[in-house]
Amino acid sequence: MSQYHIKNLEEYFQVYRKSVAQPEIFWEEIAEEHFQWKRKWDKVLSWDFSKPEVSWFQGAQLNITENCIDRHLTHRGDKTAILFEPNDPKEPAEHITYRQLHKRVCQFANVLKEMGVGKGDRVCIYLPMIPELAISVLACARIGAIHSVVFAGFSATALATRINDCDCKMVITADGSFRGPKTIDLKGIVDEALTSCEGVENVLVAQRIHSKISMKEGRDHWLQPLLDNAYKDCVPEAMDAEDPLFILYTSGSTGKPKGMVHTTAGYMVYTAFTFKNVFQYQEDDVYWCTADIGWITGHSYIVYGPLANGATTVMFEGVPTYPDWGRFWEIVQKHKINQFYTAPTAIRALAKENLSYVEKYDLSSLKVLGTVGEPINEEAWHWYNDNIGKKNSPIVDTWWQTETGGILISPIPYATPTIPTFATLPMPGIQPCLMDENGKEISQNPASGRLCIKFPWPSMARTIWGDHGRYRDTYFSAFKNKYFTGDGSLRDQTGYYRITGRVDDVIIVSGHNLGTAPIEDAINEHPAVAESAIVGFPHDIKGNALYGYVILKEVGETRDNDNLRKEINQLITERIGPIAKLDKIQFTPGLPKTRSGKIMRRILRKIAHQDTDNLGDTSTLLNPEVVEAIMKEAL
Ligand code: WTA
Repeated sequence: MSQYHIKNLEEYFQVYRKSVAQPEIFWEEIAEEHFQWKRKWDKVLSWDFSKPEVSWFQGAQLNITENCIDRHLTHRGDKTAILFEPNDPKEPAEHITYRQLHKRVCQFANVLKEMGVGKGDRVCIYLPMIPELAISVLACARIGAIHSVVFAGFSATALATRINDCDCKMVITADGSFRGPKTIDLKGIVDEALTSCEGVENVLVAQRIHSKISMKEGRDHWLQPLLDNAYKDCVPEAMDAEDPLFILYTSGSTGKPKGMVHTTAGYMVYTAFTFKNVFQYQEDDVYWCTADIGWITGHSYIVYGPLANGATTVMFEGVPTYPDWGRFWEIVQKHKINQFYTAPTAIRALAKENLSYVEKYDLSSLKVLGTVGEPINEEAWHWYNDNIGKKNSPIVDTWWQTETGGILISPIPYATPTIPTFATLPMPGIQPCLMDENGKEISQNPASGRLCIKFPWPSMARTIWGDHGRYRDTYFSAFKNKYFTGDGSLRDQTGYYRITGRVDDVIIVSGHNLGTAPIEDAINEHPAVAESAIVGFPHDIKGNALYGYVILKEVGETRDNDNLRKEINQLITERIGPIAKLDKIQFTPGLPKTRSGKIMRRILRKIAHQDTDNLGDTSTLLNPEVVEAIMKEAL
């Protein structure tokens, strides 16, 4: 038996027990046997959650791209590393072999160096799902620059905030992107963002849609001619195990996004290990994760995890609806996909359409189906299992977070028996626990509580860029000596976990985490708005949708509510992006507040859920009368 590759339930329990009893030996053996090091570690783990400080494989040196690319060249040089499927099905797919990937990453890395980018510098990547995205990520890692990928659906304001927060000196973008039948003017968004980013010296522009764009002399450079002239080999930089590999922003409960910092060695070991086990990847398999590399799922399970295992990983540029609702299944048939990993929101949207879109295609290559990003409801789980997996492909409901770097709770397919909506059991090395409201660990089963992790794992984020105090306060202060996930969870009689959702001010809409504060800030910028509060309410496809309660400064007879709603959503689109638009906007004379002035979101949530029979005690409110008024006009 190999502890790197778990094949049945008995092996899982055996490996799990060892990983908890002797975590350092467990991870050390895996690191030793399956990766290439320039220098070995002095110490496997040191940690102190009170500071918090965590370091894995201290003293080791490595380059993650050597592990993801170079070491495969002898045996897998001609194997497809990245399989690019374009937006337009008529455009041919591109197979990039490990050898070609090596050359393209090296050339890109040399371009970065010539532009003055070096170890530790931050590079913002704002690209659509084209090969240059994965290649630029790896090129940064090759030379030790820290990449900060910003999802190309974010607005200019959101992009600028992220560029400035970590002082990026370079931005990598494209002239534009294809999205189904539409094109998006990415370069225009970058130009707008850069009017408020003084630190950016150079912008590299990939050509994708061949649109007319403006190029700023001295700052903007077309990428291709630079790549063509670049040398095709680049010695990988020796990185310390704990050197930052990347920053990735996630929403929080205050306005400012949190730049989660992931480091090199532990992240590599953990994402590779979990990729192998959660997807049971075999040498000739073709693996497809439909996420965007702008999110953590794409970082860990399109780029690093698969490539570290020498896998063939698909990158899809388009959307599930173009040219029609059969696009995903057409791709599964075309590339004989073996592992398919997507989000519950996509499954729900696809399940609403006619089954003929599925039945047209041969899906018999599928062996494992995955979901991630939000709780999957039972109906969607069964639809996925029956119609896509034909009851033959286990579903792995994988629970994890941007902060955790890799999958923490998930079935191992063909080993762990699955139950719909349960993420089931922790991965080796992961020690979850449930805490009650008084901060005590609940040991019995079944139970429900706040989900925490009580022991470090290799791929956990090490800090928030520039704000270690916020890192501590957000994740390590709610429960002493534990990492608090922000999620609530149930645990059944057998110890299976079922994640029930966020217990903080983050709302997951179509799999995207949205903090309420930045949206409220955007709304409050509208000159007619005095105050606002956002809550989530259940939505058939998106999982949750946003409900905004808005107080206007002046209540006049002549006000045009529909137009105001449009303007508010326009502002949100400009400040954050279209994903944060509100489905419902209710204008209200006031918001329920406690005597200390805090908005009682619990009440607003109940009203949005149309669950007003049991509002709880409202008598302690500063303004109980307002509740009645809000209920009367609820949407
Ligand atoms: C939620 C995505 C239920 C959860 C990798 C978490 C899930 C947040 C699941 C992190 C799942 C993720 N079941 N809920 N399988 N996976 N979540 O940072 O609330 O974009 O805290 O990372 O998504 O979202 P993030």
